[in-house]
Amino acid sequence: MVSLHLVARTLCCVVFVLVGLPFSSDAQLDPLFYNKSCPNLHFIVVKVVLEASLSDPRIFASLVRLHFHDCFVQGCDASVLLNNSATIVSEQEALPNNNSLRGLNVVNDIKTEVEKACPSVASCADILALAAQASSFLADGPCWKVRLGRRDSLTANQTLANQNLPSPFSTLDQLKAFASQGLNTTHLVALSGAHTFGKGRCFLFVNRLYDFNNTGKPDPTLNIDYLKELRKLCPQNGTGTNLVNLDPTTPNKFDKTYYSHLKAGKGLFQSDQVLFTPNASTIKTILKFRNHENIFFDNFKIAMIKMGNIGVLTGNQGEIRKQCNFINQKSIEQDIDIVASKEPSKDGMISSI
Ligand code: HEM
Ligand SMILES: *[C@@H]1O[C@H](CO)[C@@H](O)[C@H](O)[C@H]1NC(C)=O
Ligand SMILES: *[C@@H]1O[C@H](CO)[C@@H](O)[C@H](O)[C@H]1NC(C)=O
Ligand SMILES: *[C@@H]1O[C@H](CO)[C@@H](O)[C@H](O)[C@H]1NC(C)=O
Ligand SMILES: *[C@@H]1O[C@H](CO)[C@@H](O)[C@H](O)[C@H]1NC(C)=O
Ligand SMILES: *[C@@H]1O[C@H](CO)[C@@H](O)[C@H](O)[C@H]1NC(C)=O
Ligand SMILES: *[C@@H]1O[C@H](CO)[C@@H](O)[C@H](O)[C@H]1NC(C)=O
Ligand SMILES: *[C@@H]1O[C@H](CO)[C@@H](O)[C@H](O)[C@H]1NC(C)=O
Ligand SMILES: *[C@@H]1O[C@H](CO)[C@@H](O)[C@H](O)[C@H]1NC(C)=O
Repeated sequence: MVSLHLVARTLCCVVFVLVGLPFSSDAQLDPLFYNKSCPNLHFIVVKVVLEASLSDPRIFASLVRLHFHDCFVQGCDASVLLNNSATIVSEQEALPNNNSLRGLNVVNDIKTEVEKACPSVASCADILALAAQASSFLADGPCWKVRLGRRDSLTANQTLANQNLPSPFSTLDQLKAFASQGLNTTHLVALSGAHTFGKGRCFLFVNRLYDFNNTGKPDPTLNIDYLKELRKLCPQNGTGTNLVNLDPTTPNKFDKTYYSHLKAGKGLFQSDQVLFTPNASTIKTILKFRNHENIFFDNFKIAMIKMGNIGVLTGNQGEIRKQCNFINQKSIEQDIDIVASKEPSKDGMISSI
C-alpha cells in the first residue's frame, strides 16, 4: 500500500523541482527543459517507479546504479540501455554490468508511458536521471532538481564500460583515479553512500572472508561480527552468486548508516572499506556525513547533479530514442525519402521531408 507519507514526499519533491527558487547552472541542462513539451514527465517517472517498487523494493537501488553506470561510459547518454544489434556491442555485457544490471524493464515501462503522453520528446538519458532521483526520495533519500535536456547516443562502448567503471577490489588510489573522470574525492565519498541500499554478490568480496591476499586469514579491516555474518551468507566454496545487502541494518532505506558501518569495519566491498582505513584522506568527510544527515544529503545531491552532467549530448547531438534499447531506424526509409524529394514525383509534387 502506498502511504500518505510517500504521497506527500512525492508532491513535495516534484513541486520543488518544477517551481521553487532559480537554480545555479553549471552545464547546458535545465530542470525546466520539459516544462512545456512534457509537463507530466516527473509524475510519470515517479508513478512507474513507485508501482515497480511494490513488488521489488530493491528497484530503487538498481535504478540509481543504472544512471551511474550510464554516466561513466561516454557520458550520461543512455548508451548503457542499448542492446546488441548490427551496429551495437552492448555495454550490458561488460564485466561490471553482466548479470548485474537491473531495472531495464522498468525504464522501458516508463518510456512507454512517456511516449504516450509526449511522443519523441523525452530522452532515455533524462529518464535514467529522473528515475535515479525518484528512487532516492522514494527510499527516504534526498530530492534534487534534476537538470534535463540530455540526448541519447547513437553508439555504445563495451570496452569503455570495462575500463571506466570501478572494481570492488579497488584501492583508494584507484578509486580516486576513477572519480577524477569528472568528479573529486568529496563527490566520491558522497556517491559511495549510495551503497546504503541494494545488494551485491558474494564473489565480489568473498576474498575478504577466508584467505585475504594469500594470508590464510580474513581481511584484518573487517569487523569480526560482520565477518561471521558474511561467512554464513557466503560459504567458502559456494557459487559466489548469493546476494548480500550492501547495508546490513537498513537495506532498503536511503540513509547515512553506510558511513557508520564503514567506521565499524562493516563496509561490504574492499572499495567501501578503503575509504575508512588508517590515514585515509577520506576519513574526515566520512565522519562528517556519519554525524550529519543533511550534510551527506546536500553533498549527495551536488555529486549526483555533477555526475549527471558528465559528457552529455545536447542540442542536435544524438537523438531522442523511441525505444530505449535501440537507436531509431532512420536509415533506409529516410534515405529513400531524401533522394525522392530531390526530384518531382510522378504527380508533379515535391514530396516533403
Ligand atoms: C566507488 C566505486 C564503486 C564501486 C567499486 C562499486 C561497486 C559495486 C558493486 C560490485 C556492486 C554489486 C554488483 C553485483 O553484485 O552485481 C554495486 C552495487 C551497487 N552500487 Fe556501486 N560501486 C561504486 C560506486 C557506486 C556509485 C557512485 C553509485 C551510485 C551513485 C553506486 C550505487 C550502487 C547501488 C545502488 C548498488 C546496488 C544495486 C542493486 O541492488 O541492484 N555505486 N556497486
Ligand atoms: C514552468 O511551469 C511552472 C508551472 O506551470 C511555471 O510556474 C513556471 O513559470 C514555468 N517555467 C518556465 C521557465 O517556463
Ligand atoms: C535487450 O536485451 C535484454 C538482455 O539480453 C533482453 O532481456 C531484452 O529482452 C532485450 N530487449 C529487447 C527490447 O529486445
Ligand atoms: C555474460 O554472462 C553470460 C551468462 O552468464 C555469459 O554466457 C557471457 O559469456 C557473459 N558475457 C561476457 C562478455 O562475459
Ligand atoms: C570505445 O572507446 C575507445 C576508447 O575511447 C575507443 O578507442 C574505441 O574505438 C571505442 N569503440 C567503439 C566501438 O566506439
Ligand atoms: C570537490 O568539489 C566541490 C565543488 O563541487 C568542493 O566543494 C569540494 O571542496 C571539492 N572537494 C575536494 C576534495 O576537492
Ligand atoms: C597483499 O600482499 C602484498 C604482498 O605481501 C602487499 O604488498 C599488499 O600491500 C597486500 N595488499 C593488501 C590489500 O593488503
Ligand atoms: C574449499 O576449497 C578449498 C580448496 O579446494 C579446500 O582447501 C577447503 O577445504 C574447502 N573448504 C570448504 C569449507 O569446503
Ligand atoms: C598514519 O600516520 C601516522 C602519523 O602520520 C604514522 O605514524 C602511521 O605510520 C601511519 N599509518 C599508516 C597505516 O600509514
